[in-house]
Amino acid sequence: MDNTDTRILITGAHGQIGTVLSAALRQKYGTQNVLATDIRPSQKEQIGPFEQLDVLDASRLEALISQYRITQIYHLAAILSAKGEEMPMQTWNINMQGLFNVLEAGRKLDIKRLFFPSSIAAFGPDSPKEDTPQKAYRSPLTVYGISKVAGENWLKYYYKRYGLDVRSLRYPGIIGYQSLPGGGTTDYAVDIFYRAVEQGEYTCFLKANTRLPMIYMDDAIRATLELMEAPAQNLSIHTSYNLAGISFTPAELAAEIRKHLPHFVIRYAPDFRQHIAESWPQTIDDSTARKDWQWQPAFDLKKMVEEMLYHVQKNKSTTESAPML
Ligand code: SER
Repeated sequence: MDNTDTRILITGAHGQIGTVLSAALRQKYGTQNVLATDIRPSQKEQIGPFEQLDVLDASRLEALISQYRITQIYHLAAILSAKGEEMPMQTWNINMQGLFNVLEAGRKLDIKRLFFPSSIAAFGPDSPKEDTPQKAYRSPLTVYGISKVAGENWLKYYYKRYGLDVRSLRYPGIIGYQSLPGGGTTDYAVDIFYRAVEQGEYTCFLKANTRLPMIYMDDAIRATLELMEAPAQNLSIHTSYNLAGISFTPAELAAEIRKHLPHFVIRYAPDFRQHIAESWPQTIDDSTARKDWQWQPAFDLKKMVEEMLYHVQKNKSTTESAPML
């Protein structure tokens, strides 16, 4: 695809992934060619085009697509797993109707390429826990997970029925220093770094031995860009690709942090999120992504912890105020 003709709209641009992906897309395609949108007004001074957008407002979405002559959409706006359990019907509505509005706009307004994030939450207690295969049985426990499975199938429907070029990744928990997650079950793996640096202790809402698939933000962003750049004829999956980075437990993460901060103390007070975490895979088989578009993660646990601690400590000393948790 010729990058000079690409004009991108991102929904949920103020979220954990959206914050970093917007910047990466602006670097790649040019600041003016990337329209960031979010339901929340812009807090900081924007470094590129921004419009407030509720994804449930289909007519405004379509008007923005026309106004900015958008050719690609990254639809990130959604309610995550833990928050979703507090408001199941609203979550279903936002996650599904938001997706339908984007798919319909994509079909009607001739969008060339569309990205939709799925998740390890698409798997459930009956999926294999280790090396969970691409085509494993998926019967998730959470509303968020159900919306991702349904969403994946709708992507395939729009691809087959209308020829819409829709691409998707089943992200593991994402760990980065540039933005904070909100309302997820894997959020502990980001929160822990701020607590370790600020207070030297952290109380984890999952049990010590709860192994979950995770990925460092740089890898997650690179995977997204690589999938979106891949030649269409190489892609064999039209639901969503399994994606793996690093799998670890809270105890293993704490031990790695302690190599840098020897006095760091972790305590455990599992809550309802434990139940969600136990229904998810522990490790993911992403061999189809590796084969189809040569996916290869770059960060292991050691390198991820080094980078996280470096940046969280640096941000602390430059701003003297860590993000609110
Ligand atoms: N990180 C997400 C969550 O915990 C999973 O996609 O909800």
